[in-house]
Amino acid sequence: MTAAPALAGKKITLCVAGSIAAYKAVLLARRLLAEGAELDVSLTASARAFIGPATFSGLTGRPVLGEMFAPDQAGEPHVVLGKASDLVLVVPATADALARFAHGRADDFTSALVLCAACPVLAAPAMHPSMWANPATVRNLAMLATDGRIRLIGPVAGAVASGDIGMGRMAEPNTIFDAVLRTLTERQTLRGVRLLVTAGPTTEDIDPVRYVGNRSSGKMGFAVAERAAELGAQVTLIAGPVSLPTPPGVTRVDVQSAESLRNALWHVLGGDLGGTDALVMAAAVADYRPAAASLTKLRRSDAPLTLELVPNPDLLAEIGRARRRTRPVLVGFALGTEDDADAVVTARRKLADKRVDFVVSNHADESIGRDDIRAVLVGPSDEEHVPFGPKRALADRILARVGSELAARRA
Ligand SMILES: Cc1cc2nc3c(=O)[nH]c(=O)nc-3n(C[C@H](O)[C@H](O)[C@H](O)COP(=O)(O)O)c2cc1C
Repeated sequence: MTAAPALAGKKITLCVAGSIAAYKAVLLARRLLAEGAELDVSLTASARAFIGPATFSGLTGRPVLGEMFAPDQAGEPHVVLGKASDLVLVVPATADALARFAHGRADDFTSALVLCAACPVLAAPAMHPSMWANPATVRNLAMLATDGRIRLIGPVAGAVASGDIGMGRMAEPNTIFDAVLRTLTERQTLRGVRLLVTAGPTTEDIDPVRYVGNRSSGKMGFAVAERAAELGAQVTLIAGPVSLPTPPGVTRVDVQSAESLRNALWHVLGGDLGGTDALVMAAAVADYRPAAASLTKLRRSDAPLTLELVPNPDLLAEIGRARRRTRPVLVGFALGTEDDADAVVTARRKLADKRVDFVVSNHADESIGRDDIRAVLVGPSDEEHVPFGPKRALADRILARVGSELAARRA
């Protein structure tokens, strides 16, 4: 017996916008159809200047959509498709289309459909690097990130149609296809789970313009939040000062200092810790803060300046102590500069002292600020070595373990 194609029965609407990269949407359409997707295609008016409807209707066997007021049209196709689609894809997504989505415009078929969509929306931006870097586009993307309804695939750095090189080249059709497959076929292993994640550094004020901080980029915690949301969890992300977009579907709370992070944590947890099922403490919370922050800017002088630092509360230990039974599942991080054997000893001590369920032990050179990471997941009686790879891959291992811990508590 042969297995059913991966996308059999999945209704996908592919919206093509006006970029030279529109021809690549044909390759994507062919792969989606080959995997059994029921595909509708819409072309914006500009897209029709780049590629003809005959190509897509020939491939799909269906009329191509895209006109808001087609002469022989009945009903409201943007509403019908918005309800019926399992996924809406915008490939390529132009700067103008992204601007329309950010502002909730509905003056063409594609933006009206995106506004109506009751399913995930993936968009693959394609544009000249100058358009991508323009503050207006940056602003529009920030609004889309805050809304969290549209997930971007790419763009990537590389050569664009003009021959210029930079960020703005559309992700390759195979990369977009992989994202589609993940979105539509991944088992929702964390559906219904409430997950709280902390990420990034904290900054501790010296005076109104200076602070003590650390080099954490927040990428690990954001990867955990993003993957957890993709796996169906209800995710709250408490983020220190980082410049990363909010992963789609994630509720974000921004904080600065350890104290504000602590307040945000307890606000979500509630006094009885019943506000979440699991907590992943990936933030690099400052261990110390200046004893007193000056209310005015310290003036330069030739005399040495001594800064007195006092310890911040140990948030993980505080929550571990407050935990009466085994909920929430608690995951700590231990970042060190020692070798693996010593790091595991340190992690196991942290595990016992702070009463957490497992600790992600990692080396500063192999994690901080990077997109990839190597780590050891240290439990009370086991260690799992996760080889060098993307932070999303380590996030998957952490979340698989969180899932097992929750299942063990339900058993
Ligand atoms: C030759 C040519 C290539 C273009 N390529 C792009 C592109 O890659 N990305 C983009 O955002 N706009 C590009 N544009 C501009 C868009 O086509 C234009 O902003 C259009 O209004 C977008 O409409 P749409 O978003 O409804 O498809 C291009 C225009 C021309 C004439």
